Amino acid sequence: MVNKDSKIYIAGHNGMVGSACLRALKQVGYSNIITKSRSELDLTNQRDVHNFIQEEKPYAIIDTAAKVGGILANDQYPYEFLMENMQIQNNLISAAHNLNIQKFIFLGSSCIYPKFSPQPIKEEYLLDGPLEPTNQWYAIAKISGVKLIEALRKQYKRDYVSLMPTNLYGPNDNFDLRTSHVLPALLRKFHEGKVNNLSNVELWGSGNPKREFLHVDDLGNAVLHVLEKKMSKSLYNVGSGEDLSIRELSEIIRTTVGYQGTILWDKSKPDGTPRKLIDSEKISKEGWSPSINLIDGISRTYEWFLANIKSAEIRL
Ligand SMILES: NC(=O)c1ccc[n+]([C@@H]2O[C@H](COP(=O)([O-])OP(=O)(O)OC[C@H]3O[C@@H](n4cnc5c(N)ncnc54)[C@H](OP(=O)(O)O)[C@@H]3O)[C@@H](O)[C@H]2O)c1
Repeated sequence: MVNKDSKIYIAGHNGMVGSACLRALKQVGYSNIITKSRSELDLTNQRDVHNFIQEEKPYAIIDTAAKVGGILANDQYPYEFLMENMQIQNNLISAAHNLNIQKFIFLGSSCIYPKFSPQPIKEEYLLDGPLEPTNQWYAIAKISGVKLIEALRKQYKRDYVSLMPTNLYGPNDNFDLRTSHVLPALLRKFHEGKVNNLSNVELWGSGNPKREFLHVDDLGNAVLHVLEKKMSKSLYNVGSGEDLSIRELSEIIRTTVGYQGTILWDKSKPDGTPRKLIDSEKISKEGWSPSINLIDGISRTYEWFLANIKSAEIRL
C-alpha cells in the first residue's frame, strides 16, 4: 500500500488540477512527490516518458496533463486536441503498465458523456449516444484513455482508475475572457465592473441553464482518496451533486465581489445545454464527499484572484 514516503509522480502539476493534487498530497505529508515542467519533459515524446518513468519508478502516476481549451480552440485545432491528448495519456499509461507501476489515476472530464444524456449523468451512459460536436476531438481522446484504463483493469487486474470531474473552479483557473469557463469569467467581469465603476455588466445568454461546480481542492482530495484506497471500479464521476442556474451563480459572485451595478443578459448569445449534472454516487459510496460549499469556495477563489491578479500566475 501507499505511504507518505511513496514516490508519486504528478504529470501536469503546473495546471489547475495538477497544482490542486500537489497541494492535497503535501497537506497530508507526502514527502516524495516528483514533478517535471513541460520544458523538462514533453509528455508527447514516448521515449522520453518511458525513460523518465523507468528511471524514477514511482509508486503512482497522477495524470492531470492535457491539452485543454474551449470551443474555439477545439474547432481551430481538432488534430492537436485529438492527437496530443492521446499521445500524452498513451505514453504515460503504457509506461505505467510496462514498468509495473502500482497505481495510475487518469483525469478526464464530463464532456466524455453523450450530449443528450439523461440527468444526472451516470458512468454507464458513456458511449450511449452522440457527443457534443464542438469538443468531440478532446472527448474522443479522453474516452480512449478511459477505455485503456478499463482494459488494463479487466485484463491485468491493475488498480488503475479514471476520474471524470464536473466543472471545476479555484486557484490557478483560467481568467482569460476569450477562453475561460463561466465561473472565472463571471468573477473577472464583476471585478472589472466594480473597480471601473461600471453601471452595468453584460453576461451571455438567458442565465437559465443549470450547471454543477466543484472546488478544485475537493477534486484534489478525491484524487488523494483514490490514491490511498483500492478502488473497485475503473471509472468514477466527481461532482458536488448540486447544480444551480447561471443567474443564481451570478448573484453569488456579484455579492462576493461586491459589485453594485445592474446585470444585463445578452440573450442573442447561445445558452448551451439546459442542464448538466453528473451522478457522483459511486465515488461517494467509496467514501469521498466534497467539503467546500459553493459560497465559501467562490469567496476563497476571489481572495486568490485578488492576491494573484498582478502576478504572472494569473492568466489574464
Ligand atoms: N478545469 C476544469 O474545469 C476541468 C474540469 C473537469 C476536468 N478537467 C480535467 O483535468 C485535467 C487538467 O485540466 P486543467 O484545467 O488543470 O488544465 P491546465 O490548467 O491547462 O493544465 C494542464 C497541464 O498539462 C500540461 N501539459 C499539457 N501538454 C503537455 C505536454 N505535452 N507535456 C507536458 N505537460 C503538458 C500543461 O503544461 P503547461 O503549463 O506547460 O501548458 C499544464 O500544466 C484535464 O484532463 C481536464 O480535462 C478540468
